[in-house]
Amino acid sequence: MNTSSLGMIISGSFTEGFHVRLVSHSAQTRIRTGKFVSIQGDKCRFFSLITDLKLTVSHPDILLFPPRPEERLLQKMLLMRDMSAIAMVRPLLILDDAGRISSIDRIPPHFAPVYSATNDDISIIFGSESTPGRRYFSLGSPLDMSAPLCIDLDKVTERSTGIFGKTGTGKTFITRLMLAGIIGKDAAVCLIFDMHNEYGVQARSEHHDQPFVKGLKTLFSHRIAIFSLDPHATQRRGISPDRRILLTYQSIRIEDILSLQEELNLHATACEAASLLAARYQRDWLATLLAQGAHLKELAQQVGAHPESIAALYRKLKIIEQLPFFQQSESETQSDIIDEMMDYIDRGISIIIEFGNFTSTFCYLLISNIITRHIHARYTLKTEQFLGSHQKRDEPKKLIIVIEEAHKFLRPAIARQTTFSIIAREMRKYYVSLLIVDQRPSCIDSEIISQIGTKIVAQLHDEQDVHAVISGSHNSQYLKTILSTLGSKQQALVIGHAITMPMVIETRSYDEIFYRDILSLISVTKNIPIQDLYTSSPSL
Ligand SMILES: Nc1ncnc2c1ncn2[C@@H]1O[C@H](COP(=O)(O)OP(=O)(O)OP(=O)(O)O)[C@@H](O)[C@H]1O
Ligand SMILES: [Mg+2]
Repeated sequence: MNTSSLGMIISGSFTEGFHVRLVSHSAQTRIRTGKFVSIQGDKCRFFSLITDLKLTVSHPDILLFPPRPEERLLQKMLLMRDMSAIAMVRPLLILDDAGRISSIDRIPPHFAPVYSATNDDISIIFGSESTPGRRYFSLGSPLDMSAPLCIDLDKVTERSTGIFGKTGTGKTFITRLMLAGIIGKDAAVCLIFDMHNEYGVQARSEHHDQPFVKGLKTLFSHRIAIFSLDPHATQRRGISPDRRILLTYQSIRIEDILSLQEELNLHATACEAASLLAARYQRDWLATLLAQGAHLKELAQQVGAHPESIAALYRKLKIIEQLPFFQQSESETQSDIIDEMMDYIDRGISIIIEFGNFTSTFCYLLISNIITRHIHARYTLKTEQFLGSHQKRDEPKKLIIVIEEAHKFLRPAIARQTTFSIIAREMRKYYVSLLIVDQRPSCIDSEIISQIGTKIVAQLHDEQDVHAVISGSHNSQYLKTILSTLGSKQQALVIGHAITMPMVIETRSYDEIFYRDILSLISVTKNIPIQDLYTSSPSL
């Protein structure tokens, strides 16, 4: 057996996985759950994940009369014959001698040796960033390996993506890495609802030696526009926003309010009153309600609503008057902000929406709902025009909409109403998909979770959250075991459409080395001299 062999297959099945008897104590220390290994079969290799580890003895009496510490010879004898460490391994792919990759349709033979996978294996199976004609992007490397492990960005954009994990596990950092890859490799245009101002200019990091990391605008200044609800806050952080967001009361529809029901603690009767107002005053329903503060009874009579319900609705929505980015009438805003956004998107420029000091969930939900509803409507129209035209010109650009705290948009109770759930269900029929970031996936409508193509899952402790993210996967039990052993930072399980097989990764560090790598990648793929990229990012 080759020196790097970790052990040999002794038994197993497709359903429970295979048992590997580890050859030595050193193999035992080198192996951990989530490790990527290959099993050498006849004329093929089985690429597999270690899913569990256990200790066995050949006879139960050994456990009744264990060797005492000073009985060294006995210990040695037992180790040679009667005690062993077993790794459970799950084969997931076959690579045959001709270099063809296929799914598992046969089992490895008895005593087949098991090896650590090599860096070459990784690039053969998962692709490499330099593969011509493909947009592969490395999100990190397999456990205990230094090889870059790639996902296929074109596949990422074909379906929605979910990044899950409990707080502090690195979700925002993974999202930033993904977005840098998508934008850097031109895989799609992104519309990012940046609730905590973490994606644009710079963000805090918990690393003491690097307390701040660069935002995407700092990295790719020409490919990103910042639209700010709070331009002063954006300026205080060192950059002038490309646009200030101003919206009118008329842009707020009943659907936007209905999905805020829980946040506003709105009773169903208040929602009915809102619908009656909208039926009567159409787009001016909110402006009318807010203007009639002193005459709510009359207003209730006019629309046939209960006065108490109208009064409750008024009290809850009055806070909109204090939000400076809402204007009472359309004439006061110079140009339609949605038109401007579409203009940037059509030019392939991604948009970060900064909330500045307006970090309440109420603002985040309201603004994201309004903007997404409008953009989605434009995209639907654009796609229909494109599909109906003979020349097939002006194909819409793929758009990825990024939201944090996604469960607030996609709760089962409102999952039929929000534009976000429509997008998740349509599966990019209209060129739009979602990238959702969340720490409570169990609170997201299960049908929507099942539509997510690629999932990147960091540590999750809650049983229901674990169940929610892996329940749709084939043979999910082994993924559950792997998930339970993930470290608390910079480790994640990647499953689904955009990766050849489920893998555990050590997330790529988002640091100076990454900034350099991503810019040189763009320089090579787009044939732009690297100095030009550096000059467009003066702070590098
Ligand atoms: N890929 C990475 N590169 C460098 N540092 C990282 C990386 N991933 C995580 N970290 C470190 O872990 C910290 C927490 O990560 P992050 O802010 O992404 O967590 P989170 O899951 O988004 O948390 P929350 O749910 O509270 O928003 C970061 O401040 C950073 O110091
Ligand atoms: Mg975060």
